[in-house]
Amino acid sequence: MIDKILDKDNLTKEDLKFLLSLETPEELEKLKKKAFQILKEFSSEKVYLRGLIEFSNICINDCYYCGIRKSNHNVHRYTLNKEEIVDSAIWAAENKYGSIVLQSGERSDSKFVDLIVDIVQEIKEKTKSEILPNGLGITLSIGEQSYEDYKRFFDAGAHRYLLRIESSSKELYGELHPNSLNWENRNQCLKNLKKIGFQVGTGVMIGFPNQTLDDLVNDILFFKEMDIDMIGMGPFLIHNETPYADMEEIYSKRKEEIYKLALKMIAVTRIYLKDVNIAAATALQAMYPLGREAGLTYGANVFMPNITPAAVRGEYQLYNGKPCLDELASDCLDCVVRRIESTGRTIGFDFWGDSKHFKDNNLD
Ligand code: 5AD
Ligand code: FES
Repeated sequence: MIDKILDKDNLTKEDLKFLLSLETPEELEKLKKKAFQILKEFSSEKVYLRGLIEFSNICINDCYYCGIRKSNHNVHRYTLNKEEIVDSAIWAAENKYGSIVLQSGERSDSKFVDLIVDIVQEIKEKTKSEILPNGLGITLSIGEQSYEDYKRFFDAGAHRYLLRIESSSKELYGELHPNSLNWENRNQCLKNLKKIGFQVGTGVMIGFPNQTLDDLVNDILFFKEMDIDMIGMGPFLIHNETPYADMEEIYSKRKEEIYKLALKMIAVTRIYLKDVNIAAATALQAMYPLGREAGLTYGANVFMPNITPAAVRGEYQLYNGKPCLDELASDCLDCVVRRIESTGRTIGFDFWGDSKHFKDNNLD
């Protein structure tokens, strides 16, 4: 049965559900193999790096699962200044990263928006070189913003944007978020980003309460329907200063199941969407030390080493168990190179590493 399904060109909803239910090591091996074969055929087996700069943990939102939600008063709030952010970006360019992700909690005041525009422009100017004639590739991950502000970020030089839908189910989205956030708005943001010309990334959390396999199948169909270029998704983890804290015990029992499910989601998404970029999420490594490497072997092709200055890294904890809290960016880079090469893959140093899906859809 599994061989027949993996050989099919057009997978049905039932096929996707079947693949997400695979359990035995032999079956998982076949799934991995197929995902890797598709990756090689439709994209490249190179792993692209994005230096992740978590530049602020101030957030106006109160997502029930997130450790930096505004109601968590135990977090020391910080925002790096322009120089610190630009210096981290220059370090990334000098260390062959090719691309960075600027991520923060959500804010939409004009001071914040102006700062981002300014920073993006400065990073672009300061990282142009013979190797990177157009400067570092810049991805933003700063939440829901107006169409006009998205456009300003794009015009300043950011060309990719990550905004997870968290769940394609409106009902589940409603369970994860307070009423001030709604699914339709987020969906509209994704459409706006596409229209402006960004390469758009989205994704979901895997394994939160009440989510079923059918929901996950619908998530994959949602990625396809929205013509998404990049996917970032990882296991749901408990943060002990959130409303989910009392579920810690239940979740420690579900750990292995959710971890495997997250890996299967990567493989099945790779097999179904073929040419998109898929990140090996840090949350995988929060579960098991070799989680991100496993993500690569299940079909991911993007790795996001944390290059946030060590002094503030501990203050950006979305969930319990975040790895690499004390490492210097340079130590992390050595470690990441070893980690990626241990999976037999090569690193796309000095490449932007754009999504093949985006390129193929945007030929002149
Ligand atoms: N567990 C797993 N992922 C989380 N994120 C935030 N909080 C958690 C959590 N407790 C993810 C969300 C968000 C991304 C930046 O981090 O999917 O979009
Ligand atoms: Fe950062 Fe290992 S991945 S220190």
